[in-house]
Amino acid sequence: MKIANISLPNNLFLAPMANVTNLAFRMLCKKYGASLTYSEMISADAVVRQGEKTMQRGMTCEDERPFCIQIFGNSPETITEAALILEEIYKPAIIDVNMGCPAPLIVRQECGSVLLNFPSLVYDIVNRLTDNISTPVSAKIRVVDDMEKTLEIARTIEDAGACAITVHGRTREQMYSGTSSLKYAKAIKKELSIPVIANGDIKDGESAKHALQYTGCDGIMIGRAAIGHPYIFRQISHYLENGESFEFDHCTQQVNDFMEYIVLLEKYGIFSLGDVKAQSKAFTKGVLGSRHIREELNDKKTIESIIGVISEMCAGTD
Ligand SMILES: Cc1cc2nc3c(=O)[nH]c(=O)nc-3n(C[C@H](O)[C@H](O)[C@H](O)COP(=O)(O)O)c2cc1C
Repeated sequence: MKIANISLPNNLFLAPMANVTNLAFRMLCKKYGASLTYSEMISADAVVRQGEKTMQRGMTCEDERPFCIQIFGNSPETITEAALILEEIYKPAIIDVNMGCPAPLIVRQECGSVLLNFPSLVYDIVNRLTDNISTPVSAKIRVVDDMEKTLEIARTIEDAGACAITVHGRTREQMYSGTSSLKYAKAIKKELSIPVIANGDIKDGESAKHALQYTGCDGIMIGRAAIGHPYIFRQISHYLENGESFEFDHCTQQVNDFMEYIVLLEKYGIFSLGDVKAQSKAFTKGVLGSRHIREELNDKKTIESIIGVISEMCAGTD
């Protein structure tokens, strides 16, 4: 598929996820077939202030390209200023604007899903960006209860010059509860001519196939199902190509991926014990002895000792 002038080998995208989609994690998802990967959301205000930790979130490498940087904010001027800095340093294929985050920390700053209440601000943000940066601009939205209002936001984003839109079929009030409705992405796809990407509750080959068929969308975006399980991209692409699942050794896969994740963190200079501990639960979910591994990791301070613990576990699962 194509977005703006970017040719992508498939239509499976990794969702932006704060504290998850760092470069190491994104590289694993790329390896298993995500064609477009998204950074964690980056604060436009913090970029303009040159916050070092914030800037690190945009870090990429040649093997990852094409990749997308997601930005959040509410001032068209600041978002554009931040986007100019990010495009200069990281040269992303796309800059995406977060218009869906319901987290209290973001909502309190009147960013993320709050923007959906203000279609003219949505227009100004996207329009100012597309007028001033050379990178294509996309937006990721949640839905609002009213279909017509949701369609109005989507049209506004297209009219303002966006190259694509992602639709997570939950409202802000739902947070992550209930189910994500695909009917909004379907209706938006019918109306718009830019690519539309469906997102929400896609967790395996069957749900991926259903989302594509039902909505007619150009692509699908996978979030939570990839946490601790980047191999999901291989499973889904296999299912979409062949109409069936394949058998694999879940334990070995999870443990090997976790080990590779740690090696990649070190390679890109973003290793932190806190992150490894946070991800250990996800990467060892369902693996025999996973509680033991998490306990063992608690006392480990060096990358060698962490890898030692994980490789022992791997041997136990062979
Ligand atoms: C831990 C976590 C962090 C997230 N961070 C972001 C973010 O930075 N930007 C964003 O647009 N959405 C974020 N989301 C929402 C996801 O991108 C996605 O829209 C949502 O999880 C629904 O897709 P899923 O059902 O495949 O998980 C986050 C979700 C989770 C679970």
